[in-house]
Amino acid sequence: MTGNSFNVHSSEDQTGREYFHHSSGQRVDTDIVVVEALRKQYPHLELVVVPRYNSDLLAYASAGFAKATPLEDAVRDPVYGVGVKWRYYMPPSRRLDSDPGAFVENVIFGKFMYKWKDQEAIIYIANGRDGTQSYPSVTNQYILTTNEHKVDELLKLASVWSQQLHNEVWVFDSGYWQKSAELYDSVMKADWDSVILDDDMKKALISDVENFFDGQKTYLDLKVPWKRGVIYYGPPGNGKTISIKAMMHMLYKRGAEKGDKRLTVPTLYVRTLASYGGPEYALQQIFSKARQEAPCYLVFEDLDSIVSDGVRSYFLNEVDGLTSNDGILMVGSTNHLDRLDPGIAKRPSRFDRKYFFSNPDFDQRVQYAQFWQNKLKDNKDIDFPDKLCSKIAEITDKFSFAYMQEAFVATLLAIAVRGGKQEALATREAHRFAGPHDPMTNVDKQAKLDRMYNGGGDDTDVDKLELWVEMQKQVKILKDEMDEKDRRGTSTSASITSLPIRPRAGLDSLNRYRDELDVLLHGRRAESDGRLSGPGQF
Ligand SMILES: Nc1ncnc2c1ncn2[C@@H]1O[C@H](COP(=O)(O)OP(=O)(O)OP(=O)(O)O)[C@@H](O)[C@H]1O
Ligand SMILES: [Mg+2]
Repeated sequence: MTGNSFNVHSSEDQTGREYFHHSSGQRVDTDIVVVEALRKQYPHLELVVVPRYNSDLLAYASAGFAKATPLEDAVRDPVYGVGVKWRYYMPPSRRLDSDPGAFVENVIFGKFMYKWKDQEAIIYIANGRDGTQSYPSVTNQYILTTNEHKVDELLKLASVWSQQLHNEVWVFDSGYWQKSAELYDSVMKADWDSVILDDDMKKALISDVENFFDGQKTYLDLKVPWKRGVIYYGPPGNGKTISIKAMMHMLYKRGAEKGDKRLTVPTLYVRTLASYGGPEYALQQIFSKARQEAPCYLVFEDLDSIVSDGVRSYFLNEVDGLTSNDGILMVGSTNHLDRLDPGIAKRPSRFDRKYFFSNPDFDQRVQYAQFWQNKLKDNKDIDFPDKLCSKIAEITDKFSFAYMQEAFVATLLAIAVRGGKQEALATREAHRFAGPHDPMTNVDKQAKLDRMYNGGGDDTDVDKLELWVEMQKQVKILKDEMDEKDRRGTSTSASITSLPIRPRAGLDSLNRYRDELDVLLHGRRAESDGRLSGPGQF
């Protein structure tokens, strides 16, 4: 036969062979390789393999419950006798804390002598990126022991420990529960004394929660499920969040106060449902954790944005579904009760009680000014007589607490910017050094106008006080800002505005004058931040 001699059916096709050969490699499984090697190397010891995600034995040891000593021999065996570790630097989570950050080591391969109680074992740790998952859990711990039973006890202790909170709060964010030490620290600074509320309302808020956690038997006797929901609603900046934090603190302290750690109630704090698995998955994760941790305080901040139309039915399913939610007290905060679905807001057994956090009335504004007066009491440079408290309350009608806080902070900042000098002196200096365009000049003129406008009054002694003069200016600026927002229709009333942008003092100057402000507030240099805050600011 002549012509071309292609043999398309040939079983000798090299390309096909190569392709098939290339695509049918042996399975790779580091776990099996390590197990085989260890069994050969330690024929007299039993081997227990434990994935690290289940109980992290090195973390348990570094918490002080066991001792893990590296078994390395770099001299006799410089290549295989030393472990493999990744080292990286973790910067501080907040630069302002002047925390130096920390170095972290991640063991990729290592061998340790592990001692706990009166037991010891050899542990190998090996990371192997095998398996079919895109992000497989790849680090296993290989425990070589003579006593498997004792190893089981260790595993139980270490895994219970890793599930517990250690000065942390559970926070649901980005689709999973994480422990937050930062939130815990801020909660520990919150207390009911610095939350100004109507006395009866404060008592009701607290007893509602305490009665719930003390009342398991009552609910049982009444044959009703031991679960409850409350909603905190109202315009921004009036204490919903600081009340939740004060409550969290109270619930953490409960165990210690009553001498029984089991009475401590943990908080589960939900930031958002946004997650890679979608809101349904997120809600499933949230409620299954809450059931596991119950009795617990389950917080949904900005409930209306969390339970949007699309997720409402999943939410209700979890709240009312067949699975028991015994011991779960839910609290949701919102600015917009009207935006919440009636199925959530109106039906009892979901959110049974609602508390309204209104703008402060005159008396509460006086109390808030007294709070600042007390804060400034050791400061020799600031004169804050009692009658100023009611005068400040008079001019801050319709302010939320957060707006009042802003007025105080802006006032003290402005005073700090002047370096504690009397206004007249500061103005003279401003004229001398900066000429007619200096902004201080304008502020000064504005203040004079304001005083004329306000009629001066007969409190001439108080009227001259630097704090009062500056406070009036700042309150006017804030009021103008509220009016402007109202005119533009960005809010329906001054009270429904979000927090103002701090006028005239931008972030830079805020940081620059932080120390000066601290000197004014406390008569000494700042060691840390956080002193700018009003009560309960975290
Ligand atoms: N009742 C209050 N007593 C004392 N200070 C308060 C009170 N309410 C608000 N503040 C001050 O205002 C700040 C903001 O308050 P908070 O975060 O609790 O408001 P909120 O009601 O949760 O507002 P939003 O609806 O915007 O979340 C607090 O850090 C605190 O300094
Ligand atoms: Mg809030």
